[in-house]
Amino acid sequence: MSDCIIAPSILSANFARLGEEVDAVLAAGADWVHFDVMDNHYVPNLTIGPLVCEALRKHGVTAPIDVHLMVKPVDRIVPDFAKAGATLISFHPEASEHVHRTVQLIKSAGCQAGLVLNPATPIEVLDYVLEELDLVLLMSVNPGFGGQAFIPSALSKLRAVREKIDRSGRSIRLEIDGGVKADNIAEIAAAGADTFVAGSAIFNAPDYAEVISRMRAEVAR
Ligand code: DX5
Ligand code: ZN
Repeated sequence: MSDCIIAPSILSANFARLGEEVDAVLAAGADWVHFDVMDNHYVPNLTIGPLVCEALRKHGVTAPIDVHLMVKPVDRIVPDFAKAGATLISFHPEASEHVHRTVQLIKSAGCQAGLVLNPATPIEVLDYVLEELDLVLLMSVNPGFGGQAFIPSALSKLRAVREKIDRSGRSIRLEIDGGVKADNIAEIAAAGADTFVAGSAIFNAPDYAEVISRMRAEVAR
């Protein structure tokens, strides 16, 4: 497993120039494209859907697209994202009536499956489904907006989920999302994350390559 994946969240990109923005972060050394889908129902904001994912693929994006669904219900939109070229699809257990079924639906559509835990969601939700997952995504902010501050209790939660993943013996990625910056990424990595979403920290920086390489250096520290 690659030890450090940097996944810029395009929520903070310039949507008027989205294709160029995605090309630019990938050229600057990003590994994945983090794609935040909000429905103004499960979360209080409205963003982008499968059409935009498909448009990025048509534009020529070949990097993994990491779709973070903040929508309720979940199942209806999964096949559309699979067709649109999503690589991974993650969802919140609170937004699905049948979590195990949604995981199977994502995998049968040919995508990797992730489960997302909000700051107040107990990690026990992973207990009977962890072995089916390709990724666990821990939210270190409440979902809905970019640019919020990292919630410190996410660090002990990361350590606890890291232990669960290691005990399972499976290669499941542990992703963190919300308030990740070059100056806190080292302690986040030390707590067990291997996959880092960053929106405002990357897209608000003048030089994407500089901030991404600074993040990698901090993780390797
Ligand atoms: C929030 C989204 C995040 C967001 C992160 O609901 O899931 O991916 O874009 O933004 P930053 O990195 O600015 O906290
Ligand atoms: Zn996200």
